[in-house]
Amino acid sequence: MQVRRTFLLAGLAALFAAGASAQTAWPTRTISLVVPFAAGGPTDVVARSLAASMSKTLGQTVLVENKLGAGGTVAAAFVARAQPDGYTFFIHHNGMATSTALYRKLPYNPLTDFEYISQAVDVPMTLLARKDFPANNLPELIAYVRANASKINLANAGLGAVSQLCGMMFERAIGVKLTAVPFQGTAPAMNALLGGQVDLLCDQTTQTIPQIKAGSVKFYGVTTKNRIKALPDAPTLAEQGLKDFEVLVWHGIYAPKGTPKPILEKMNMAVRAALRDPDVVKRMADLGAEVASDSKLTPEGLQTWLKAEIDKWGPIIKANGAFAD
Ligand code: MLT
Repeated sequence: MQVRRTFLLAGLAALFAAGASAQTAWPTRTISLVVPFAAGGPTDVVARSLAASMSKTLGQTVLVENKLGAGGTVAAAFVARAQPDGYTFFIHHNGMATSTALYRKLPYNPLTDFEYISQAVDVPMTLLARKDFPANNLPELIAYVRANASKINLANAGLGAVSQLCGMMFERAIGVKLTAVPFQGTAPAMNALLGGQVDLLCDQTTQTIPQIKAGSVKFYGVTTKNRIKALPDAPTLAEQGLKDFEVLVWHGIYAPKGTPKPILEKMNMAVRAALRDPDVVKRMADLGAEVASDSKLTPEGLQTWLKAEIDKWGPIIKANGAFAD
């Protein structure tokens, strides 16, 4: 009996040691960073900048994988069900919070089905129209949209996308309802705007600054409380009369629930190192993005923020009646 017990304990100890050493050795192969929107768009731009730097820190490739659909919820559900083995991570923005109010049946719970690693960067948004849209400034845009609401469409990346959230805030601010044209990310939405197939788009500076600077779109202002360094002459929507209009995009990095703590800690260090990497900092700053404050670069910082965002946006979304099943 005693012999059997000794064998059992030795076996368990060996198993535990193997698990612990696998975690210490992590990573030993390519890591997947899932992006919930189309390649080339704003979330993808942030993810690829971080992934390139994190690959150097971790000594293994961090590969960006775009999993599209349903405003980011297809990717979130995929990650919630993925193996918690340290080889699947997820980057998502405000949609991780807003989807809880937007979808009646969300196939995951953002507050219980994930591990939290860190926030990353905050990104302003910009309100744009196709280049030949008749309105040349915000007052003209408001007047024109109010007078022609039934003929105007507004592109977005689906329910749960920040482009949808920002568009909804704009509609609410000026008291109109426009025709929504959903895409699987704002990269294809921007192509449609550039091609003149859609009228309006509210999108992140990480994609829009090059187009604004090239003059290939009409630009009406930024969605932040204050003007931004990357576009110092651009007025905010709030200072032009849309009082209290504020949408700022924040990004969080997550893992499937149950991913071992030592891996989460190493991943947090790699994210922080990427956010201090001069190449990443410069690229993000040129595109209007700012590294999140220190207190948000922790698992607790992300988790607390996510909960606060769920509480903030839920009532606003419900008041607007924008739901999907
Ligand atoms: C994207 O990466 O395509 C955007 O973040 C989608 C959005 O939320 O508007």
